[in-house]
Amino acid sequence: MAGSVMERCELLSKLSEEPHVLTRPYGSRAMGEANEAVARWMREAGMNVRQDAVGNLIGRYEGAGGGTFVLGSHLDTVRAAGKYDGVLGVLVAVACVQRLHVRGERLPFSVEVVGFADEEGLRFGTAFLGSSVYAGLFDGRLLDLEDGDGESLRDAVLNFGGDPEALARGAREASDFLGYCEVHIEQGPVLEDLGLQVGVVTSINGQSRVRAGFAGHAGHAGTVPMKMRKDALCAAAELVLEVEKAARSRPGAVGTVGEISAQPGAGNVIPGEAFVSLDLRHPEDEVRGRLRDHLEDQTRKIAAVRGCEPVWKAHQEIPAARMDPQLSGLLGRAVEEVVPAVHRLPSGAGHDAALMAARCPAALLFVRCERGISHHPAEAVAEEDVEVAIAVTARFLELLARDRA
Ligand code: GLV
Ligand code: MN
Ligand code: MN
Repeated sequence: MAGSVMERCELLSKLSEEPHVLTRPYGSRAMGEANEAVARWMREAGMNVRQDAVGNLIGRYEGAGGGTFVLGSHLDTVRAAGKYDGVLGVLVAVACVQRLHVRGERLPFSVEVVGFADEEGLRFGTAFLGSSVYAGLFDGRLLDLEDGDGESLRDAVLNFGGDPEALARGAREASDFLGYCEVHIEQGPVLEDLGLQVGVVTSINGQSRVRAGFAGHAGHAGTVPMKMRKDALCAAAELVLEVEKAARSRPGAVGTVGEISAQPGAGNVIPGEAFVSLDLRHPEDEVRGRLRDHLEDQTRKIAAVRGCEPVWKAHQEIPAARMDPQLSGLLGRAVEEVVPAVHRLPSGAGHDAALMAARCPAALLFVRCERGISHHPAEAVAEEDVEVAIAVTARFLELLARDRA
């Protein structure tokens, strides 16, 4: 089965908005094609398939009893992505359901496999858009966010065949969610270093996403003396270095400016406006909050010194999430039955499991990836490790079924 999962990862990696690299943002044509392909595989695995109001792809395998256990991960990608981030978890889940289907087995609960439509936030700078809708935790204020082309999230949802007004309506009854389990590549080097194929995640770091910037004064690059300028991009450059300095000085913190833009954007025009994206993370919400507040303060100070207007739009605060000890214990038991040892580790990367954990017990299985490389085309996993991930997930479902029988 791992061979087929690897082939499917390869096939999905061809569904991209950009030539030569894998870039699959929310609501794109490539995203629609990925949903179609995965929907076909879900149907072959005996699932009923639907797309919800935001475009999450949901395959349901009816059980013999009540309640729904959710498996999944995301189908969107970052820009110039690897082939396995997100996709692997969805396809491992489909493979596990296919196994049940082939054997004609029904569990004492239904299983839903979800391919979340947007975890990375590439297009709107919002992480976990898909899982927040599925879990009934969507923040309606996000609908007015605009992408780089000025299209609102509201319109993007409509154009993807969704219903923006339904996003905040909430999900099903909490009691129907029995739990959530996600398989994901580690995206770091720890498991490889320990010589382990998989590991069980204990907690997921929280994150803040901010759009910060400066409004200065555009002008002629040849005529305005240096002393008289209000160069917004120079102010933004100071902020970029401040993010690095502030994160470095707080153990465990990471801060990233991954996007920068300057307007009007011509070589001979002093930038009148400049914006940067901020991604701040830490295992403790309080420390992350202090880092964010410090940077907001610095943005104001830099603006004042340079005669610019500061802009600070904090559009997402995602608290750190602890994985459920009981469910993770069960996942650990499944790991121990498949490989010699279970290793527990925290996650620096964000995952849909962080959002789902606010709604129901959640567990996360990491799969070793080569040299820990991720968010990069060189991302790689070994087929034997995928085989182990399938075996662990299948055993986990058996243990869960036994517990609930
Ligand atoms: C998702 O990969 C994230 O951690 O940003
Ligand atoms: Mn990612
Ligand atoms: Mn991911």
